[in-house]
Amino acid sequence: MKLRGPALLRDPLLNKGTAFTEAEREALGLEGLLPPHVTTLEEQVARVLDNYRRKPTNLERYIHLISLQDRNETLFYRVLTGHLEEMMPIVYTPTVGEACQQFGKLFRRARGLYVSSEDRGKVARIFANWPEPDVRVVVMTDGERILGLGDQGVGGMGIPVGKLSLYTAGAGIHPRLCLPLMLDVGTDNQALLDDPLYLGLRQRRLRGAAHDDLVTEVMTAAQTVWPRALLQFEDFANNTAFPLLERWRDRACTFNDDIQGTAAVALAGLYSALRLTGRPLVEQRVVFLGAGAAATGIAALIAGAMVDEGLPPAEARRRLWFVDSQGLVVKGRDDLEGHKLRYAHEHPPVPTLLETIRALSPTALIGVSTAAGAFDRAVIEAMAAKNERPIIFALSNPTSKSECTAEQAYGFSGGRAIFASGSPFPPVTLNGRTHVPGQGNNAYIFPGLGLGVVASQARRIPDRMFAEAARTLAAQTSAADLEMGRIYPSLSRIREVSLAIGSAVAALAVREGLAAVAAPDVAGQMWTPEYESYI
Ligand code: NAI
Repeated sequence: MKLRGPALLRDPLLNKGTAFTEAEREALGLEGLLPPHVTTLEEQVARVLDNYRRKPTNLERYIHLISLQDRNETLFYRVLTGHLEEMMPIVYTPTVGEACQQFGKLFRRARGLYVSSEDRGKVARIFANWPEPDVRVVVMTDGERILGLGDQGVGGMGIPVGKLSLYTAGAGIHPRLCLPLMLDVGTDNQALLDDPLYLGLRQRRLRGAAHDDLVTEVMTAAQTVWPRALLQFEDFANNTAFPLLERWRDRACTFNDDIQGTAAVALAGLYSALRLTGRPLVEQRVVFLGAGAAATGIAALIAGAMVDEGLPPAEARRRLWFVDSQGLVVKGRDDLEGHKLRYAHEHPPVPTLLETIRALSPTALIGVSTAAGAFDRAVIEAMAAKNERPIIFALSNPTSKSECTAEQAYGFSGGRAIFASGSPFPPVTLNGRTHVPGQGNNAYIFPGLGLGVVASQARRIPDRMFAEAARTLAAQTSAADLEMGRIYPSLSRIREVSLAIGSAVAALAVREGLAAVAAPDVAGQMWTPEYESYI
């Protein structure tokens, strides 16, 4: 043990607080620095929970947990892992969003690394300041599109911190291997620029080539300093997220969770739904309401999975249709942006979603439009008239934007809909039968995927890994889950699910020659938060 005395108590990765044994206290210069009673980890957990549950607001709970993370990471992860369903909405969406908005007010202690547009030319030097030599997962953001809250500037750092805590809690990736990274390129959020407590650069956002150049320097330096790291893009705005992904996906071990992680969760939901309908993926016809980033990402992954299952690419794309605010996306419309053109098929114009359903008879309807209530009674009844078990996913967040509620989906379809949503809805009881809606939460996918990448030391993350992760997640949904209509497993099983996804992803990396490790030990990579003896 290198550290002793007060320095040891201040190191969150090593500190055990009152759980240092008498022998450790004596050997490590801690005598007199702690109250005499030696506490067990379980007693410490009980103390944290007692304090946590007495906090009056979710933001206070967030502060309590983050402060614990800054003092004692083993205890923090023991608490989080054991209470993930309860605490996920605190350490991640929605409460983390509030914490990002109030970053300048709440700031206590820095975590992770900050690189600003003033640092061009010295990024590698900054990375060398990070004390851990073996970084395996970097989550980076430029803070421009934080959840649904827009530009939060440097306050966006809450997201990489929160996401990495889910990598550790959900998949056991050791916190020492994880690095949150903020690219502070300024902010266009005037309220932040005017806030005297704002902690980021007080300038407008860097854009275009200057932004690209900074990301290039960051990616290149990261690959040199941490050659085994997965570099995840998170909460960049759409107009930077897509080009960055295209530029780096074949040059680095990287992915974008908003685009690819979301797509994998949706595809997994579809695979689970097909276990209920009994029909193969290649026979599905999917209509998306909304034609933005989420729709494009989900459509690309479904198309890829259909191709893997034998359909020619053009035929796969023809099974996927977009409806935007102007109606069905068809060839010949002169108002289409580039990303919609791939799904603009030959078809006469159709002005509404309802008429689209009547014209195309889709088997699945996926809402990613932010158009609250767009799946009305007529739309759901039309889906139910065309399908014995209509697949209806209302993925828009937050709840107030959802295309329909669970109650509407089940109610208007006579209880036949297979329903999932982006935001959680409570179970619905209809004619004595209880339906449990699934929630398409990205946390089902990225921790397990990251675990597989870390264990195999994969060089690249092709879309096929997301399809594999989606198939594995769907297979983890039990018959009992499906019986209740729930198309995702319970979050309480997240570590088991992550191990299955990690194993499948690592095996794929080995099969495809992307792995640096011949026989990845995925389970062995999973850390369990327990105290080690230091003497
Ligand atoms: P975006 O802004 O890129 O796309 C929204 C699309 O909807 C645009 O094409 C827009 O033209 C279209 N649209 C808007 N109003 C419409 C209307 N009345 N009728 C038809 N189309 C309409 O946004 P993005 O990133 O694609 O996200 C969309 C929604 O999906 C958001 O609510 C987001 O929270 C949700 N989402 C859910 C996820 C999950 O459940 N895991 C993950 C990612 C996104």
